[in-house]
Amino acid sequence: MKSFKILALPGDGIGPEIMKEALRVISATGKRHAASFSIEERPVGGASIDGCGVPLADEVLKLALLSDCVLLGAVGGPKWEGLDYSIRPERALLALRKELGLFANLRPARVYGALADSSTLKREVVSGVDIMVVRELTGGLYFGVPRGVEKLPDGTERGVNTLVYTTPEIERIARVAFDVARKRGKRLTSVDKANVLETTELWRRVVTRVAVGYPDVALSHMYVDNCAMQLVRNPRQFDVIVTENTFGDILSDEAAMLTGSIGMLPSASLGAGRHAMYEPIHGSAPDIAGKDVANPIATILSVAMMLKHSLDMDEAAGEIESAVERVLDRGLRTADIYQAGTRRIGCREMGEAVVSEIDG
Ligand code: IPM
Ligand code: MG
Repeated sequence: MKSFKILALPGDGIGPEIMKEALRVISATGKRHAASFSIEERPVGGASIDGCGVPLADEVLKLALLSDCVLLGAVGGPKWEGLDYSIRPERALLALRKELGLFANLRPARVYGALADSSTLKREVVSGVDIMVVRELTGGLYFGVPRGVEKLPDGTERGVNTLVYTTPEIERIARVAFDVARKRGKRLTSVDKANVLETTELWRRVVTRVAVGYPDVALSHMYVDNCAMQLVRNPRQFDVIVTENTFGDILSDEAAMLTGSIGMLPSASLGAGRHAMYEPIHGSAPDIAGKDVANPIATILSVAMMLKHSLDMDEAAGEIESAVERVLDRGLRTADIYQAGTRRIGCREMGEAVVSEIDG
């Protein structure tokens, strides 16, 4: 019997509700595939600040390093917005990414047939969209120094963030993206702002150099402003997109809306070693927290990514994905993807529906 150690970090807002449904899916999968999952659950983000004063306790980071992988809900909320940047809930997420060395963030935006009318864009624009955004996750503006806001002698203030990338950082994320493209449609779009930002001109040169090792993958380059436009103009032109941290943050939210709802998008954060973290790309949605209306599908699909990328359980991952597809085909919808003619259900019922499809 295979056995895995998973650290579950529900976090804030809707985090605990969606995590509960994801854990239900994990336990159903374990039964079917004779795998044992030992799950440790700990507070993170605002919940951790409330409990012990810091967004990520040392003990939790240590557990993360010892686990096979981390499954995270969401962090943040208005309650903690006034805090200093160094101890905000979001710091926990950034610290986990950095300390676990998770430089590659895979964010698949796939439009399910049943949801092609749920997008705010026309069906003929979004149907068939299947994009993988490969976002660099431990560099760029998020981590670059110098950073901060300083007071100047004349009483004004000066804010600084630094967009920094080294050649090895660009090379390793490019290789991940080329490898991903190789297993998909063999087309890679590298997104930069090379006409204005030197760092991203370096990005373009390095990605072009890495491409020499991947003659079977067609590489193109695109400026980020154009990419933002092309994503809503003709999203089907994209297969894999690789880009730096901040651009990837923004473009992946945009790509999410092609699928009907940000509540549908899972993600995998991977590094060079065996560490990995899986999380929905959406936030903690404090406005709907605790009301049983959140969509747990992004987290459930993150479990599928976990089975595939960390636990070598591809078949089980496929089962979860097709269970989700069947639930949507049956017309079951959480509020965010509801349309006339479908049946609106809550977070819990959605989790149960996916589990019962998995159980067959
Ligand atoms: C994401 C989120 C995070 C990010 C926030 C919560 C720090 O928006 O995972 O996309 O900016 O990376
Ligand atoms: Mg984001």
